[in-house]
Amino acid sequence: MNLAVVILAAGMGKRMKSDIPKVLHPVLGRPMLSYLLDAVNNLSPKRVVLVVGHRAQDVKKISDSKKITYVVQTKQLGTGHAANCAKSALKNFKGNILILNGDFPLITSSSLKKFMKDHEKKNADLSILTALIDDPHGYGRIKRDQNGDVIGIVEEKDASREERLINEINSGTYCVKSSFLWNALKKINSRNKQSEYYLTDIVQSAHKDSLKVNGVIVSDSDEVMGVNDRSELSYVQSVLKWRVNESLMRSGVTLIDPETTYISPEVRIGRDTTIYPNTHIYGKSQIGRDCVIGPSTWIEDSKFGNRVTIRSSCRITNATINNNVNIGPFAHLRPEAQIMDGAKIGNFVEIKKSKIGPGSKVSHLSYVGDAMLGKDVNIGAGTITCNYDGFEKHKTVVEDNVFIGSDTMLVAPIKVGKGATTGAGSTISKDVPEGSLAIGRARQIIIKDWKRNPKEKKRK
Ligand code: UD1
Ligand code: CA
Repeated sequence: MNLAVVILAAGMGKRMKSDIPKVLHPVLGRPMLSYLLDAVNNLSPKRVVLVVGHRAQDVKKISDSKKITYVVQTKQLGTGHAANCAKSALKNFKGNILILNGDFPLITSSSLKKFMKDHEKKNADLSILTALIDDPHGYGRIKRDQNGDVIGIVEEKDASREERLINEINSGTYCVKSSFLWNALKKINSRNKQSEYYLTDIVQSAHKDSLKVNGVIVSDSDEVMGVNDRSELSYVQSVLKWRVNESLMRSGVTLIDPETTYISPEVRIGRDTTIYPNTHIYGKSQIGRDCVIGPSTWIEDSKFGNRVTIRSSCRITNATINNNVNIGPFAHLRPEAQIMDGAKIGNFVEIKKSKIGPGSKVSHLSYVGDAMLGKDVNIGAGTITCNYDGFEKHKTVVEDNVFIGSDTMLVAPIKVGKGATTGAGSTISKDVPEGSLAIGRARQIIIKDWKRNPKEKKRK
């Protein structure tokens, strides 16, 4: 099928009461619009035109696909006007044009395919995807005649009391012959309650011209739920969450409580991994097999091997974790943390831009930043890499089999050679040679018969 897609995403989404364009509001950590773009991509269209307006530059950023043509609607004069903005971009295109609202992320490509198949089969000039819903409030209502043929769409604000009782709604999804569309758009006006150019008016116009109008009812009405306010945003997120979680569970992942587990659809998780409640996994994260994660853990754009255990309340962003690693509870892995096989990161430990070698342990209350740790290193409790001098970041290198005593300050740039040891409570600011012991702290002194209370002294 020769197909072009037009997505209307220029509106500012007044009802969201937001500075962020509506289509960029995140659902499971991804902008709402990206779900629709994925569904559209699966249709292999010849052209995709995205109508942008409100904060156009930001909307453009979310899609790097070269296939998309952007057109700008400078003034938001209505959906009909928005669709017409795509005209110049498609002036040489002949075929079917699928027009979609940008604010309904639940639609699936299989429903869109079915819809377009029906459009072709019926040889319609215009097909509309509709839904039967219990509470049609806010949507345009589908008007049909005695024969069941669609004769028009009336917006909620323009509808009479009887029309408002109609529970078949317009999803904002249209498939039209290019030969019909541009002519029909010429005829619409803004004489309505909102003084907007309604795209929906092309339906009545087609009917009047005795063209073939085809109303197709979607089988799952959830798929066409639009997002106009934040309550609808949360509803849409709960539906998407359930879709993702269900498919993960079917593929062999245990979710202890899918209700409170938020995973973006791009995330990959291996079988026999168990996820505890209140866990969020977003971005391009990949989790291996036999891992145990959570509860209350946040993971973003990170890659885990197999048999990784992340205990309660960790935050992990942009990190790489190899096999057989234990992390947490309460650990913070920041961008470019790289934890090698069998390493251990314990409670209240922060790791940033550092490689922790195989079998190494940072078990308690430490900060490791801009560091390279070799294998089987032991970092004592309370150790800090002092990586920042107020101007620049400096590197710490700790070679294989080093033992860093508790509460060591490693003042970078610094290198601790193979097998070396540092004494507890040391401030180490000079390189430590291989195999040596470095102690950098004041010697202990003893003052005998020390009375803590001065009055006690006087009495004696
Ligand atoms: C629209 C339909 C309504 C349908 C509903 C489905 C019209 C007149 N009404 O109403 O029949 O039931 O969708 O969800 O079409 N947009 C622009 N430029 C504009 C105005 C809107 O690009 O000037 C975009 C918006 O960014 C949005 C989409 O068009 O993505 C729909 O606009 P919105 O204002 O949400 O329309 P609804 O009132 O929901
Ligand atoms: Ca809408």
